[in-house]
Amino acid sequence: MFEHKPQPGWIAVEEFLTDKVVHPDGSLQRAVQSAVDAGMPPIEVAPNAGKLLKLLVQMSGARRVLEIGTLAGFSTIWMAQGLPDGGRLVTCEYLTKHADVARANLDAAGLGHKVDIRIGAALDTLAALEAEGQEAFDFVFIDADKENDSKYLDWAVRLGRPGTTVILDNAVWEGAVLEPAMDPVNAPGIISALELMGKHPQLDATVIQTVGSKGWDGFALAVVR
Ligand code: SAH
Ligand code: DHB
Ligand code: MG
Repeated sequence: MFEHKPQPGWIAVEEFLTDKVVHPDGSLQRAVQSAVDAGMPPIEVAPNAGKLLKLLVQMSGARRVLEIGTLAGFSTIWMAQGLPDGGRLVTCEYLTKHADVARANLDAAGLGHKVDIRIGAALDTLAALEAEGQEAFDFVFIDADKENDSKYLDWAVRLGRPGTTVILDNAVWEGAVLEPAMDPVNAPGIISALELMGKHPQLDATVIQTVGSKGWDGFALAVVR
């Protein structure tokens, strides 16, 4: 019955929802602007997705969060806001420039004391975390180079424990999961990770499609058995 009327778009609806419900604080708004000012790509999660990460951290009672892919620290701030006093977040970032911007944003948000930014290729950092004998992570957010998504999933299981929550960003990639030629670099990594999530004996998973300011995408969510 609506097809003959002009429709509001996904982005306008997202702005309405964010304004009415999500309420990102000033530190989060400034983190987004800082990335623009530094010439970094605008590929942070949407505010409603960031708030979901915060709420999932809270709902799961996580005290130790692992993030793969920091950028300017937007998702990092959201998740750190969901941590209890004494909670800890380790985030992996390849580029020093991104880590520097994120560090400034986390400090300005009053969350710097909770967050350890590890600079380097995440696969190296993850191996180092294991070698250090770090306590298990309760919550893992994977959002870096999609080619390594399957390896990151394996690491999430390895560095987690039964009950650990695992979130994988960019699980739909504008539909490229059905047409990998759209993005031969990233799509195969995403597809492999989804296949692994569906068959991994230690993961129980689902995937949600999303639309909005970040286009057509989605996220996968799993719990470690
Ligand atoms: N989670 C962030 C967005 C991350 S964008 C947010 O939502 O706010 C992806 C980030 O992963 C970029 O900063 C990129 O530099 C970083 N990255 C890419 N490959 C990486 C690798 N191999 N190891 C660590 N970080 C990597
Ligand atoms: C890109 C990466 C992301 O993690 C994302 O959420 C959106 C886009 C990218 O590399 O283009
Ligand atoms: Mg992402």
